[in-house]
Amino acid sequence: MFNDVISIHDLTSEQILYLCEKAEDMKNIEKSGQRFKLSDSLKNRKLAYMFYEPSTRTKLSFDTAMNQLGGKRDGFIGIEGTSIRKSESIMDTVKMMEANHFDVIVMRNPIDGSVQWAADVANIPVINGGDGKNEHPTQSLLDIFTLYSNNGKKLDDISIGFGGDLSHGRTVKSLCIMLSYFKDVKIYWAAEDFLGIPLELIDYLESKNVTVIREKNVKDVLDKVDFYYMTRPQLERMEGISKSLVTKMLKQYKIDMDKIKNFNGKLLHPMPVNSEVEEIEKNVYFSQAQGFLEQAENGIFMRKALLHELLKDKDYVAFNSKLDYDLLHGNNKLIRKISPKIKQGLFIDNLNTGISIDHLKYGAAFEITSKLNLADKGYIAMPAHLPPDEEFLNGKSFLKTNMELISERELKLVALVSNEPTINIIKDGIVVDKFVYLLCRNENCITRDVKEDVPPKFFNDGNIKCRYCRQKYVILN
Ligand code: NCD
Repeated sequence: MFNDVISIHDLTSEQILYLCEKAEDMKNIEKSGQRFKLSDSLKNRKLAYMFYEPSTRTKLSFDTAMNQLGGKRDGFIGIEGTSIRKSESIMDTVKMMEANHFDVIVMRNPIDGSVQWAADVANIPVINGGDGKNEHPTQSLLDIFTLYSNNGKKLDDISIGFGGDLSHGRTVKSLCIMLSYFKDVKIYWAAEDFLGIPLELIDYLESKNVTVIREKNVKDVLDKVDFYYMTRPQLERMEGISKSLVTKMLKQYKIDMDKIKNFNGKLLHPMPVNSEVEEIEKNVYFSQAQGFLEQAENGIFMRKALLHELLKDKDYVAFNSKLDYDLLHGNNKLIRKISPKIKQGLFIDNLNTGISIDHLKYGAAFEITSKLNLADKGYIAMPAHLPPDEEFLNGKSFLKTNMELISERELKLVALVSNEPTINIIKDGIVVDKFVYLLCRNENCITRDVKEDVPPKFFNDGNIKCRYCRQKYVILN
């Protein structure tokens, strides 16, 4: 069916519906008292969990699912006690899981796109248990299964409300994208501006014919929907914002008995509920509307279905200790015409053999000289600055050095200081190679993490997008 589960964008509506049917089968098995009916199906298979961030439900439900299918589980939650504390990279950690004969990896990591990188590195299936602010596809699958079960086993014609923190979490984003695969979906929401649905997501949903309506308050939303999806404030992703300020922002949006008194639908929440902020008041837990505990159990059915589909017909993959050369190379070098091929012009004169880095922002050349440690390495560095003029309104700078080779990591250091540098490789007074180095602009993208050393890759689906965090990239230079 598929090999990895990284992004909702990789799934089709048929696959989502198929997985809902399979999860329904798993639910029926449980509800008819046959919990271990499939306990031979993944016998001797092993699931590795790599959770760089805390988790209760996601980790446990994969654990339970694998156990009920007869498989084994091991791994880490939190990096304490692992070699990640000794700066081991994601690539090496993934390879260690494979070398230890695991059959599938579930990974959660705070960096956007990190799980796609793990999947690129691994020869076994990788499942995204949450990457940065990006996606949480298996949460959306269980959420959508909860909607499917409570909506007459279909996913068209759904009205759903969203509340809480719709900006910093990944569950809302992933669920909204998944809902956009179906017809007549109406999304209503109410939240503080700072916690609201990001504009790019609204634009995307509207481009897929989803109706998205913002209401002033929660009651207006609850009046119009069959499901209300509440979320906790994702405080760990709000740098420099105090808990008390966020609590204040959430105050009027909290779910209490008064708000739900006329609500006949289901109240959902991916959980955990923050017991200090209490975005859902305690009494509500005991109301008819409470649907989030059923939703949590649905996680087991959906993850059981997913693991079963991923592994049931696959023999184990024997460990291959050789790494694929592709992992070394990005596709982010925009080749530029080489001209003139002569030793002339400010940016190349006095340099017979070496590298000239051009189109740097004003003032960047000095910073790059020190970031690349050119002096310590014994190279000559000639940084220069051109003040603003008619051609370069903000000015620019460039750097010449007699260093002959520049590594991927060094190119990244340059691009982190000044986006889209032009690199000229010079031999015997002639420019022999010339390219612009592109680096994703999402500050939290894995490709910007120097120690992980992931070569940037882009794809074009009408827009140029980062292969890892999938954010749009506009070429400027
Ligand atoms: C997570 C949470 O809120 O911490 N909950 C969950 O997985 N059920 C969601 C997340 O990590 O994005």
